[in-house]
Amino acid sequence: MDGFQNITVNSNKSEMNGTVEWRSPSNIALIKYWGKSGDQIPMNPSISMTLKYAFTQTEIEWSPRENSNEKVFDFYLSGDKVSSGFESKVKALIGRFALKYPVLNKLFFTIKSLNTFPHSTGIASSASGMSALALALLSVVKETSDFGGNYDDFTKEASYFSRLGSGSACRSLYGPYAIWGSGTSGIGNDEYAVPFHPHNDFLRIFDSILIFSKKPKKVGSTLGHSLMNDHPYRNGRIEQVHKNMERLLPAMEQGDFDTWQQVVENEAMSLHGLMMASSTPVMLLAPETIRFLNDLEDFRTGKGLKVAYTIDAGPNVHLLYALEHREIIQDFISNWVMDSKLNMDVIDDETGMGPKQLFE
Ligand code: DP6
Repeated sequence: MDGFQNITVNSNKSEMNGTVEWRSPSNIALIKYWGKSGDQIPMNPSISMTLKYAFTQTEIEWSPRENSNEKVFDFYLSGDKVSSGFESKVKALIGRFALKYPVLNKLFFTIKSLNTFPHSTGIASSASGMSALALALLSVVKETSDFGGNYDDFTKEASYFSRLGSGSACRSLYGPYAIWGSGTSGIGNDEYAVPFHPHNDFLRIFDSILIFSKKPKKVGSTLGHSLMNDHPYRNGRIEQVHKNMERLLPAMEQGDFDTWQQVVENEAMSLHGLMMASSTPVMLLAPETIRFLNDLEDFRTGKGLKVAYTIDAGPNVHLLYALEHREIIQDFISNWVMDSKLNMDVIDDETGMGPKQLFE
């Protein structure tokens, strides 16, 4: 755990009651994390754009817990008490925190979370949810004991713990872009993300998310990632990702939208190609996804538009584009949706700068 040795904690501080609240965004991967091993160590580096409006807001109210066997927390999502799959992930993350910060073993938590975006829309709620939770738990540590780290140490530590909750969540700690995973010209770490600052032209990229399906994911992330373990294209994929990182980062530093478009779209198609070619084949694209991509291709040919599509583990398309082409792209999307006669939503987002503490 490099980087954290200088964070000292002692439990003389006795703020045994209190409330903290954090807002943390989702992110969309430009180069995809797909495949992991051990303790959430990614098979390859990835880079994402941090979103601005799609975020989770998480409040933790803590109070003393008399007995370490007592219930540890209550979890409310949008006001409802839930005991879903997410709750077991919350429990696991608190457990990981408590191993390093035993002060948490003395506390009971009331956790209230809400998302600004609907569930299962192709926006990663685990990224915003787990990063907001990690930030709030680390704030509790800070309030109840002496956390000797500075702001950067705090964010890095929150990224480290977010990763344990959900890999892609560790990238949500930084805006406008974040890199997670080692191996690209000395940048990046497997245990936490680092920020990436591009050319000014990439500081405000819009993201229109075309929601073709709101059905829950057909394949959970753990199963999905495990398909890379014995994948026949595993080595080729690792080689491809490193080449894509080496092309994308300089392109984004130089304001080169052509290379950005080629790499981002290659990553989206490769992710789905890998899924389809897995030992258990997974097909997540919908007929509408393919129709939209074909129509986009026809529409943009010869226009020199600064636009790229990307797709995560589902059928929904993120259309990313520069400010100067906002109008033409948004017109294209609304016409397409109207012509398609589909009853579908489009969510508009853009580049964001990362989490924000609301209450301390
Ligand atoms: C396709 O971060 O959801 O969105 O670590 O198991 O929680 P876990 O996986 P998760 O995987 C995200 C995969 C992806 C690509 C990406 O965001 O990089």
